[in-house]
Amino acid sequence: MPIKAVVFDAYGTLFDVYSIQALAEKLYPSHGADISVKWRDKQIEYTRLITQSDPHNSNGSKYYQPFWELTKLSLEYTLDRLKLDRSSEQVNKLMEQYSRLTPFPENLAVLQKIKVMGLTTAILSNGSPEMLASAVKSAGMEDVLDHIISVDRIRLFKTSPESYGLVQLTIPVSKEEVLFVSSNAWDALGATWYGFKTLWINRQNLPSEAIGRQPDYIGSDLTMVVGVLQLLRI
Ligand code: LAC
Repeated sequence: MPIKAVVFDAYGTLFDVYSIQALAEKLYPSHGADISVKWRDKQIEYTRLITQSDPHNSNGSKYYQPFWELTKLSLEYTLDRLKLDRSSEQVNKLMEQYSRLTPFPENLAVLQKIKVMGLTTAILSNGSPEMLASAVKSAGMEDVLDHIISVDRIRLFKTSPESYGLVQLTIPVSKEEVLFVSSNAWDALGATWYGFKTLWINRQNLPSEAIGRQPDYIGSDLTMVVGVLQLLRI
């Protein structure tokens, strides 16, 4: 079945979450790398905890907070854990940088090529709508993305099946007509299990996850999307 839509994860895939490391290092010398890794891990942990374990999820999650808020809370937790000063000035500086993360260099050209191929493009992200809009704008990607889909609409984070289901509520396509692209292995697996065709962009040269079923394709940067589309003869 031909691919009609290419759907991207945002953080880690289009926008480099570890690019925050440089500012963290400037604010907290010798802790930049540790902050950026622990911050990201805690942020994702909170999304999973809320979506998996909130007993109110079937009626709308009670513990749900937009990803922007969880990002800030996880930063504060990380600074506390590392026993670093967390004045609101430092936190605000890092959060401000988070709202306009550096995009990976090849991304814009890849998105432009996909549009030339006549396909629909979208983001599906845990990110809250405002932070996604800001990141897309600052990366100059507004004209090459048809839809920016946030899980905020259903208050359930990835990797819930409901979150991946938002794609089909937005774009008239079957699961098999979607190529879902993520640099987060857990996200690529969640999307594979949901039923999308998937491409894992293994930017950090990590081993494959030890549990299956594995993503359909693996690449090292976003240019692989074009290769996969050509292979599938869209
Ligand atoms: C996203 C993050 C979690 O959904 O990578 O964009």
